[in-house]
Amino acid sequence: METVVLPDNGALKEADLDPKFDPWAGIERLRREKNAIVLAHYYQDAEIQDLADFVGDSLDLSRRAAETDADMIVFCGVRFMAEVAKILNPNKIVVLPDADAGCTLEESCQPDDFARFRAEHPDHLAITYINCSAEVKALSDIIVTSSNAEYIINQVPESQPILLAPDRHLGSYLARKTGRDMVLWDGTCIVHDQFSVRELVKLKTAHPDALVSAHPECSTALLEHADHVGSTRGMLDFVLGSPANEFIVATERHLIHQMKKAAPEKTFIAAPGADGGCSCADCPYMEMNTLEKIYLAMENEAPRIEIPEDLRLRALKPLEKMLEMSPPAGAITQAAE
Ligand code: 13P
Ligand code: SF4
Repeated sequence: METVVLPDNGALKEADLDPKFDPWAGIERLRREKNAIVLAHYYQDAEIQDLADFVGDSLDLSRRAAETDADMIVFCGVRFMAEVAKILNPNKIVVLPDADAGCTLEESCQPDDFARFRAEHPDHLAITYINCSAEVKALSDIIVTSSNAEYIINQVPESQPILLAPDRHLGSYLARKTGRDMVLWDGTCIVHDQFSVRELVKLKTAHPDALVSAHPECSTALLEHADHVGSTRGMLDFVLGSPANEFIVATERHLIHQMKKAAPEKTFIAAPGADGGCSCADCPYMEMNTLEKIYLAMENEAPRIEIPEDLRLRALKPLEKMLEMSPPAGAITQAAE
C-alpha cells in the first residue's frame, strides 16, 4: 500500500528554484511560518543534521515525534521513520523530503510474506524491528529498535516463543544476548552487511589502541571483533563516555559527524568495506534527502505521509507497546561487550 502522497502538478519543483536560492534561509522561514519541526536521523548529511531541531536514533526520534506540538513534522530520514511519526500524530502534516527514501530491511519483508511467516508460527510473539512498513507493523505484536530490543525481550516470559523480523543479524545478536531461541526473518541492511571482517582486522592491527563500536545490524562475524555494540545513540554515548581516544565506527558513516562535534579531540575511523575503503557505508536511501528537497517538501506540504485510519490504528498498537516497554529516555541500554 502506498502511504506517500506526491506533490501535485502545480507544485514547486527543484527546476523552479533560482540558482542563487538559499534553501537554508527558505527552511528557516517556513519553519516559523508553518510551525514546523525538523527531525533528522544520525545518518543524514552533516548539513541536514546541523539544521535539524532534533537529531536522534530511531527510538529517540519516535519519542520526539510523539511529544511535539508542531503542526508540521519534516522527517529527514527514511519512509518507515516518517510513517511512525504519522502513526503517532494523525492530525499533523508529516513530510518526507524524498518519497523514494526506503530501506532494504523494509523491502525484504513484504506484508503478504510476513503474514504467511506469522501463520507458520502461530504460537510465536512477533517482535518486529521498527525498520519495516506500516502494514508489517500492523501484523506485529511489539515493535523494537536497536536501542530497546534487548530490554523489551527480557520482559517477555521465557516460555513465550518469539519470532523476530526483518533483520537476521540484529535477531542473531539479540538471541545471543538474551539466551532466547528465536525464529528469524532473513533480511539484512545493505550498509551494515557490507563491512569486511578481514579489512577490519587489518585496520585494528594498524590502530591497536582503537576501540571498535558497532551497530547490531552488522554480521555476527564482525560483531565478534567489537568492543561495544549499540544503536546509533548507544554508539555515540559509548565513544563520548569512554576514556579511549581512537575508535573504529561500524555503522553508516554520517554518525561520525555527531561524534566529531561532541569530541573533536578524539579520532574516529569509519569501518572498511571489502575494498578497504568506506564509500559503501553511505545509506543510499538516507542520502536522497537534500536541503532543496527539504525546502520543497515544506513549501508543497508533499511528499506527505497519509495512512488509512484502520491501518494506522493497527500499526499504532505494537508501537504503543514499544513505548510502554522501553527504558526511560536517556538510559544507556547496551553496555560494552
Ligand atoms: P538506530 O538509529 O535506531 O540505531 O537505527 C539504525 C538504522 O539503521 C536506521 O535505519
Ligand atoms: Fe535501512 Fe540500512 Fe539505510 Fe538504515 S542504513 S535505512 S537499515 S538501508
